[in-house]
Amino acid sequence: MAAATGNQGFSLCLLCLLFVVIIPTPQAHIAEYDDYWRERELQAKENLEREYNPRPEEVTNHLNDRVAATLTELGSNGTATSRRSLARLGRKRRETKCEATNPIDQCWRCDPNWEKNRKRLADCALGFGRGVTGGKNGEIYVVTNCSDDVINPAPGTLRHAVTRNVPLWIIFSRGMIIRLKEELIMTCDKTIDGRGANVHIAYGASFTIQFIKNVIIHNIHIHHIIPGKGGLIQDGANHIGLRTRSDGDGVSIFGATNIWLDHLSIYKCSDGIIDIIQGSTAITISNCHITDHNDVMLFGSSDSYTQDEKMQVTVAFNRFGKNLVQRMPRARFGFVHVVNNDYTFWNMYAIGGSSHPTIISQGNRFRAPRNIAAKEVLKREFTAPEVWKCWDWRSDGDVLLNGAIFIQSGSPDAIKKFAPEKTIKFMSGHKVPLIVHYSGALTCSPGKPC
Ligand SMILES: *[C@@H]1O[C@H](CO)[C@@H](O)[C@H](O)[C@H]1NC(C)=O
Ligand SMILES: *[C@@H]1O[C@H](CO)[C@@H](O)[C@H](O)[C@H]1NC(C)=O
Repeated sequence: MAAATGNQGFSLCLLCLLFVVIIPTPQAHIAEYDDYWRERELQAKENLEREYNPRPEEVTNHLNDRVAATLTELGSNGTATSRRSLARLGRKRRETKCEATNPIDQCWRCDPNWEKNRKRLADCALGFGRGVTGGKNGEIYVVTNCSDDVINPAPGTLRHAVTRNVPLWIIFSRGMIIRLKEELIMTCDKTIDGRGANVHIAYGASFTIQFIKNVIIHNIHIHHIIPGKGGLIQDGANHIGLRTRSDGDGVSIFGATNIWLDHLSIYKCSDGIIDIIQGSTAITISNCHITDHNDVMLFGSSDSYTQDEKMQVTVAFNRFGKNLVQRMPRARFGFVHVVNNDYTFWNMYAIGGSSHPTIISQGNRFRAPRNIAAKEVLKREFTAPEVWKCWDWRSDGDVLLNGAIFIQSGSPDAIKKFAPEKTIKFMSGHKVPLIVHYSGALTCSPGKPC
């Protein structure tokens, strides 16, 4: 979704004053705010309070320690070694062996029986979304039918699966392109697991994760997403809601908690690739491969929505690939741990924000574009230096290539909390090519490691 700015923000506020009973939050796309949605929103507010972690350093240090352990195990602790390891990996891959290069992958990817142990994945999340279980406590639901009926979805379709009011582990009988006629409004406690099938959500609307908790989306392709017109859409097992037009985001996370997006290949959405807004927290985005897009990730959409102080997001082991422009991410308020990602290109900048978010950038590789005016990794939006100099935007172990510049702000002490001496030597961004080597949707066959 687009950030509300200037006059637009002002008129949105007038709107919400005028229609406060019907539309309590702008941009919610809920045209009829009935008891069902009021209850969902109420639950979401409680979840935000409960899932916010007052000690984020416990989460960041836990993840960094796990990365260190994985790399030690791989025996790669220097640049040269990484290259050697990469070459070795290439050979191993040809021999159809498996080597997992980050702690999330190491948790499941080399198990040849991954298909029988699908739910093992639910124990593998790290970072702020690490408490997620998705559909672990539910049955397996097999999607067999790629069609989409938004009001009366047939059993066997994805929309039917995600609107059941029980936990479900959703898998696919075969490769398919699912063209969603309207946004897919998910409910709590679901895993969407595309392993073993080549699943594309494309040429239609996409995921809406609104006022719910506990969702895993894993190993699918999301691309060519366009806005839905809105109208009546099934949004619960016993409920059909009235929606306004959707934005055309790849994944829209709105007032939601405990969300994990892993091994997604995402490109060409008409709005954002991933938006996390309006009181969402406990989220991890990992192992994704993102290309061909302007506004990549928006974390917090309004400078007046201070509840986003509680937003905590981990962005780890992702590859930001070709033809990206900006917002990887662009954050407001909140806390973002950006760790071991590969930024191969940006047109304007990589990471930006306003409203004093905390950004802890560790062990990333930033390759600046050729354009001499776009060498800066960061962008502070609409803020004077006297103000942003107090924001904690810290870099630790990042590798800056091709003249990339990372201008830190805030307290040098801030980083100490998030990077104890012992882990620093394992954190270097030089190892990023190895760590993100298998990002994006994987091709997995039963009986073989993924
Ligand atoms: C890793 O580094 C240590 C010391 O820094 C060195 O002794 C060891 O040989 C290195 N391991 C590899 C596999 O290069
Ligand atoms: C797939 O679902 C649609 C309704 O969305 C239905 O008309 C069609 O018959 C189903 N196809 C199969 C093979 O079940």
